[in-house]
Amino acid sequence: MADKSLALIGAGGIGGKHAEAAENIGAPVRWVVDILPDRAETLSDKLSAHADTTCDAALADPNVGAVIIGVPNYLHADLAIRALAAGKHVFLEKPMAMSLAECDAILAAHAKSRQVLQLGFAHRYTTVGQKAKEVVDSGALGAIHHVKAHIHLRRSVPGLGRWFTTKAESGGGALMDLGCHLIDLSLWLLGHPPVRDVLGQTYSLFGKRMRDYNFAEMWAGPPNYDGVCDVDDSAHALVRLANGCTLQLDVSWAGNFPEPNVPLSQMILVGDAGGLAFQLFGDHVMLTTEVDKQLVHERIEVAEANFYETQLADFLSGVEQGQCFGATAQDGRRVQEVVTEIYKSSGVAS
Ligand SMILES: NC(=O)c1ccc[n+]([C@@H]2O[C@H](COP(=O)([O-])OP(=O)(O)OC[C@H]3O[C@@H](n4cnc5c(N)ncnc54)[C@H](O)[C@@H]3O)[C@@H](O)[C@H]2O)c1
Repeated sequence: MADKSLALIGAGGIGGKHAEAAENIGAPVRWVVDILPDRAETLSDKLSAHADTTCDAALADPNVGAVIIGVPNYLHADLAIRALAAGKHVFLEKPMAMSLAECDAILAAHAKSRQVLQLGFAHRYTTVGQKAKEVVDSGALGAIHHVKAHIHLRRSVPGLGRWFTTKAESGGGALMDLGCHLIDLSLWLLGHPPVRDVLGQTYSLFGKRMRDYNFAEMWAGPPNYDGVCDVDDSAHALVRLANGCTLQLDVSWAGNFPEPNVPLSQMILVGDAGGLAFQLFGDHVMLTTEVDKQLVHERIEVAEANFYETQLADFLSGVEQGQCFGATAQDGRRVQEVVTEIYKSSGVAS
């Protein structure tokens, strides 16, 4: 891969982040592909790359070593499988796919290939995420018996009426989009214990009243009131792990969570020797331990860093060494299993 370049498939919100990361770490991008020619051209001009509206030429290009796939979820499986079959290493955005069957198809294609496949669970690469992993692995928390994590956007349903809110194109709403990050981060911090059972409930309360919905933010495109919103805009779940640990997960694209009492995001890990809390994009973690029969609360500052850059650098060094250092395809499937079980528990088919 040392003498080869990247192809970026999808030049929307996340495509822009990957393009910037590639530029900043000096990773050459040879192709930018988007079905919208303007988007492909804007990014390709910036990166001095070729632009295209299909990925055929990029996948056939022997100078391309790896592709970064950042397109709507319903295209993940097809594009990842095509890229692996074309002999390219693949960085695939989260969630892995729309369903467990699609995850299995990607896993089968990956097993047949000799390529590295990494998933875009970027929260592993924030500086708070890295610090949390270091603290957990140091044993400072002892045996962790509970993890409580939330992301509460208040009025931020993305691209209302577009692909994010159309189940046939996204596979699900806030749970699929935000929940998968929390599930991956929790399982990664805990060392991937098996899941025992899952209880969950999803709600669709805001986005589906399309014209009455007042948004604070509309990422992934302006509202399309002629489109579809048939996905959850919040989800709440309790996951019991085989090692006895419980995970309480709450996510929303829209919900009435009072500010500032409920921070936008938080992750709390509670162990028998200590506890750790942090906000997902925070600049510190809080560590509580008992010292000389006193509870000691320590604030550990972390440096600022662009986690998309760290993530891409880790993917590329994995490619050099022929292994995935980040979220593997198996990790992606485990996350999808929990998402699927939460939808099932909630009475939603997936
Ligand atoms: N890891 C993260 O932090 C993170 C953040 C945002 C999005 N994502 C994931 O990235 C993916 C894309 O999300 P987004 O926010 O960039 O969406 P987006 O709608 O902003 O961008 C998607 C882009 O894909 C293009 N596209 C559609 N079909 C295509 C095709 N066949 N070939 C090439 N391009 C095509 C669209 O024109 C659009 O420009 C999703 O899977 C999402 O879950 C991950």
